[in-house]
Amino acid sequence: MTELLTSTTDATPPQRLDADWWRQATVYQIYPRSFADANGDGIGDLPGITSRVDYLARLGVDAVWLSPFYPSELADGGYDVADYRNVDPRLGTLADFDAMVAALHGAGIKLIVDIVPNHSSDQHEWFKEALAAPKGSPERDRYVFRDGLGEHGELPPADWKCMFGGPAWDPVGDGQWYLHLFAPEQPDFNWHNEEVRADFLKTLRFWSDRGVDGFRVDVAHALAKDLPENLPSEAELAAMDTATGTHLLWDRDEVHEIYAGWREVFDEYDPPRIAVAEAWVNPPSRRARYASASGLGQAFNFDLLEADFDPEAYRRIIVDNLDQAAASGSSTTWVFSNHDVVRHATRYGLPPNGDRPRHYNRTWLLSGGTEPVVDTEAGLRRARAATLFMLALPGSAYLYQGEELGLSEVADIPDAARQDPTFFRSPGVDVGRDGCRVPLPWTATGRSFGFGDAKAHLPQPEWFGAASVEAQSDDPASTLNLYRDALALRRELQADESLTWAPSEPQVLHLRRANGWEAVANFGSTAVPLPAGEVLLASGPVDGELPGETTVWLRN
Ligand code: NOJ
Ligand code: CA
Repeated sequence: MTELLTSTTDATPPQRLDADWWRQATVYQIYPRSFADANGDGIGDLPGITSRVDYLARLGVDAVWLSPFYPSELADGGYDVADYRNVDPRLGTLADFDAMVAALHGAGIKLIVDIVPNHSSDQHEWFKEALAAPKGSPERDRYVFRDGLGEHGELPPADWKCMFGGPAWDPVGDGQWYLHLFAPEQPDFNWHNEEVRADFLKTLRFWSDRGVDGFRVDVAHALAKDLPENLPSEAELAAMDTATGTHLLWDRDEVHEIYAGWREVFDEYDPPRIAVAEAWVNPPSRRARYASASGLGQAFNFDLLEADFDPEAYRRIIVDNLDQAAASGSSTTWVFSNHDVVRHATRYGLPPNGDRPRHYNRTWLLSGGTEPVVDTEAGLRRARAATLFMLALPGSAYLYQGEELGLSEVADIPDAARQDPTFFRSPGVDVGRDGCRVPLPWTATGRSFGFGDAKAHLPQPEWFGAASVEAQSDDPASTLNLYRDALALRRELQADESLTWAPSEPQVLHLRRANGWEAVANFGSTAVPLPAGEVLLASGPVDGELPGETTVWLRN
C-alpha cells in the first residue's frame, strides 16, 4: 500500500490521499443527538461536533462515522429520513455541515455518513405524495403498496411482523396497505423503481461533493425484494432459505446490481468514496459480496459483538473473518459497541446471556438493570482487555462514542423518558436501545455534565460525572488514556494485514503482526507468565506476569 502525503504550505496536518486509507482505519461512531450540544437546547448538534474536533484528534481516530443527521421526526433515532440532502434544523444547517467537514479534515480525520436506503420517513415528500395519489399511481410505485385482503381490503396483505414489533403492513384508508420492515413511520422503498435508484445516486454525489469520504449503508441487505402476487405467511417467510440469494426480502443476489451502480459513483471521486455495509446475512460467507471491490467495499462483521469473553470464541471469529476478508479482497471490521446494543463494558459484567441476540440482554434491561447484578468492575476490566486485543487485529476498528470512557449501559431510564420505537411497539416485552444513547459526559459537574447548557434529551445518571472526559483526562490509568495511548501506538505500529498465532495456554490468545507487534490477552482469572518482549501498553497493571483478564502489547 503506497501512501501519498500532500505537502503542506500552511499549518494544516497532511491529508492521507491513498485510496486504501479505510483498510485498517480506526473509525469513531458519533450519534449526533447525544455527542455535544452547542446551542443549549438539550440535543446534540453539528456545531457541537465541530467544537470537539480537538478531542477526536487527541483521541487519535482516523475517521468519524456520523449516524443520521438528516431532517427526521425521530420515530427511529433519525433512521427515519425525511430529506436525504439536508440537515435537521435542530442539528444545524448545511453551512454547519460544511464547517464540520472542514474542521475534521483540517485535523486529518475523514468523515463517513450514514445512508438509509431501505426506507424513508413517512414525512418524506415522496411518501406524502404517495398517500395523496391513487392506487397504481407512479407516486405509490416508489414504495411497496399492496391491496388488502377481505372484501374491501380491510385485512393486511400478509401477517408479517416488523422488526420493532407489531405488523409490517399498515392500511392507508383506501384498501391499500404499505410495507414497513421497521417502524410504521419507516415505509420501505420500492427499489425496482428507477426514480428511487436515481435519487440515491444523486444523494451519494450530493454528500461526496461536500467532501464526505464514505458511507455506512443501513440495512444494506434488504433493498432488493421480490414480492409475488400471493404473499407467503410470516411462518413461510421465516422458513425460507437465506443461503441462496433467493429469499423474498433479505440478501437477494440482485441487491448487488444496485451497489455496482453506487460503486461507479464512488469511483468518480479521488480518492474513491468508500462504503461499509450493515448486512446481517446467513451464512456469513455471503458477506463477501457486500465487501467486494465492485460493490460497497467493506462490510461489518458483528461476531465479536455477539461473543462471550472467551478465548476459543475469539480465536474462531478472528480466523474466520480474516479468511472471509481475504476471500473478498477487503479488510475486515471489528466492533464491540454501537447505538443498537448494550454497551460492552456492561455485557461483560453480566453472566453469559441465555437470551438471543447475545448483545442485547433483554431480561436484564427489562429489570431496569438490576437482575442479574452487573459486576461493573469486572465488566470494565474485560472490556478494556477485549478492546486492546481487538485494536491489535488487522482490519478496521469501529468504536462507539463513550466506549473510550468505559461507559456502562444506562439501564434505569424512566419509561416517560424513553424514545426508542422498540419500547413503544412492544410494551413490557422490550425497553429498546436508549441506554447506550445517553448524551456523553464531558465535565464532572454541571447541568448535563458539559454536554450542553440544558438538561440532556435523555436523562444522564449521577455516576456520569466520575466517568466524564474531565475526570479521566489527567489520570494515566483511565480508560480514556488507555484508548488514547492505544490509538497513537496503533498508528505507529500498523503493519500489513497478516497475523500469526503464538503457542499459548488455553486461557490465553497471543497474536503476532509481521513487524514484531504482539498482543497477548489472558481471558482467565489467574495470572500467567508474561511472554518475552518490550511492554508497550497494557489494559491493567502488569508486573512480571500477566494478570487475569488483561491484555498486553509487546514489541519483539
Ligand atoms: C439499523 C440501525 O443501526 C438501527 O439503529 C435502525 O433502527 C435500523 N437499521 C433501521 O433503520
Ligand atoms: Ca443543540
